[in-house]
Amino acid sequence: MPDRPRVFLSEQQIQQRIREMGVEISADYPNGPIYLIAILKGAFVFLADLARAIKTPTRIEFMGISSYGKGKTSSGEVKVTKDLDVSIEGHDVIIVEDIVDSGVTLTYLLHVLEQRKPKSLRIATLLDKPERRLRPVHATYVGFHIPDEFVVGYGLDYAEDYRNLRDICVLQESAVSAE
Ligand code: PRP
Repeated sequence: MPDRPRVFLSEQQIQQRIREMGVEISADYPNGPIYLIAILKGAFVFLADLARAIKTPTRIEFMGISSYGKGKTSSGEVKVTKDLDVSIEGHDVIIVEDIVDSGVTLTYLLHVLEQRKPKSLRIATLLDKPERRLRPVHATYVGFHIPDEFVVGYGLDYAEDYRNLRDICVLQESAVSAE
């Protein structure tokens, strides 16, 4: 197991920002329900905190997406591995993500969900790495714009480890290359 990661965004910073995002979303959607669709697995922690920061009634749904060649090619193949259990037709939908990186995943997902005729469709992401973008995805609600660092914790993993860290941390270069 690599050395302890360095804190990049503390639990306090994250929680404060999510409270602000909750206020903003609640104001933008005075009437519910808002369908919050979290993308497994990374978004599960952010979803739990964001949903509780929103005052408008919400419905919680999950989708699973897998991608191949992610970050390496602009034509990364994406597919749905777990679909919604409900119809979103005519509803306000917010996709909840932990991070937008190349934008390949969300470009595909927006295409899939738009075909299901939601009343509105927006993205809320805790982290946005605009430097890495290969597709022009725009998130309406962004917690933090971050540089191109490899971050873990608060739902984000490295080889499935670190998802349960309360802070968002940067892995040391040696720790990444050691595995
Ligand atoms: C991460 C993240 C997004 C996607 C963003 O998921 O949760 O879904 O990558 O990357 P992109 O903008 O380059 O498409 P990941 O594939 O790491 O799976 P996980 O959430 O299960 O960790």
